[in-house]
Amino acid sequence: MKIIALGSITLAAAVAMVTNAENTTPSDGLLRIPLARSESSRLKPDSTQLWYHTLHKYGLFRTKSEMESQAVAEMPLFDYYGLVDIGTPSQTVKLQFDTGSSRFVVSTTKCPDCSGTSPFNSDLSSSYRPGVEPWQIHYGDGSFAEGFIAEDKVTLGPISVQNQKLNLVVSESPNFDDTVDGVLGLSFGVISGSTTLFENMIKQELVDQGVFSFFFGKRSINGGGEVIFGGVDMDRIEPGSTITYTNVTEATHWNIDIQDFLVNGGSYAKYKNKAHIRAIVDTGTTLLVGPEVWVSWYHNQIAKARRFRNIWVVPCKGTGTLSVVIEGKSFVVPYEDLAREYIGFGLCFSSVQSSSADYLILGDVFLKNNYVVFDQAEKRVGFAPLKAEDKKVTSPAAVSEVENAASVRVQKEL
Ligand SMILES: *[C@@H]1O[C@H](CO)[C@@H](O)[C@H](O)[C@H]1NC(C)=O
Repeated sequence: MKIIALGSITLAAAVAMVTNAENTTPSDGLLRIPLARSESSRLKPDSTQLWYHTLHKYGLFRTKSEMESQAVAEMPLFDYYGLVDIGTPSQTVKLQFDTGSSRFVVSTTKCPDCSGTSPFNSDLSSSYRPGVEPWQIHYGDGSFAEGFIAEDKVTLGPISVQNQKLNLVVSESPNFDDTVDGVLGLSFGVISGSTTLFENMIKQELVDQGVFSFFFGKRSINGGGEVIFGGVDMDRIEPGSTITYTNVTEATHWNIDIQDFLVNGGSYAKYKNKAHIRAIVDTGTTLLVGPEVWVSWYHNQIAKARRFRNIWVVPCKGTGTLSVVIEGKSFVVPYEDLAREYIGFGLCFSSVQSSSADYLILGDVFLKNNYVVFDQAEKRVGFAPLKAEDKKVTSPAAVSEVENAASVRVQKEL
């Protein structure tokens, strides 16, 4: 069995399936290993935190005060995670699958203050190979994670990757997400000089095809997601559609060229007199985060959109499907996904927010409406519309999250 799917089911089912992975007989040839959605006992992720998480990740704060204003905020809760086994005998950890980074970061029992629910204990693993090379991430606001790089076996269902480099966390600031144990980076390893888990799967000839594919389910349809390593689940795609591929422009992040954005009759390429717009496809980002000029243009197409301080808000019941044009094909995001939690006066937090970058980061808001294939071997990204029942609109996201802290905070200031 060489194709792995991380499928959408509840956590309980997920745990059962991971434990019994060898016993599951797939009917469609894809072995499904569960992916679930974070159930946090804390506040639901708020859009401001999700936005600031992306700014942190890419170092894109625009002003010092903006950075400091979030210094004490907790890192956001990640929506989706998968269960991954490390070591011998295997220990199951919860990881976020992140195409926007390249390291395999996991909390350890050596770090008493670490986030996470099931940290990795290297003392219990016979396949563990210790290392001394240090690593660290320091953010501008003082938050950090650090530790050393070691190796162990990593298992996803029937596939075991040998000698995977692990960025073990032994110390971190208290503001990290504590609903996952770490991050499984799926960009190109060259960013951090490491070899990603998927690059190792290719090297160790554990997959038939050098591609992995993501499906993100919406909250309204139970929310889980699915990642397939080594293949594509054509059943997720709108019948009659094909996958449109575009070459990666630089194999570091999943950088692609977008030809145009269309909304309410407006064309960004026409407005800018420019044919290509750089974007990074990032499963570890929730919103659509882009340069000021693009974000302002977008909101100028939406009636009654306005900027409150640095936050863009849009009418909760507005109109304007966003079309993202890639290789001549349009991939859409419905308006309902572009307006987030309720803020007041009929306005919602916009899914489109700005950064100091000159490129866009295409997060889950886009990915929840379109199936995405990351072709590591051919260095290209494929897109296809999700079939109708998988992209039912989450409506009104807005109203159900009215009590959310960020909304309240913004409402007061409005
Ligand atoms: C994409 O890259 C491949 C291989 O480098 C090349 O053959 C192909 O022409 C490229 N496609 C486009 C549309 O540029």
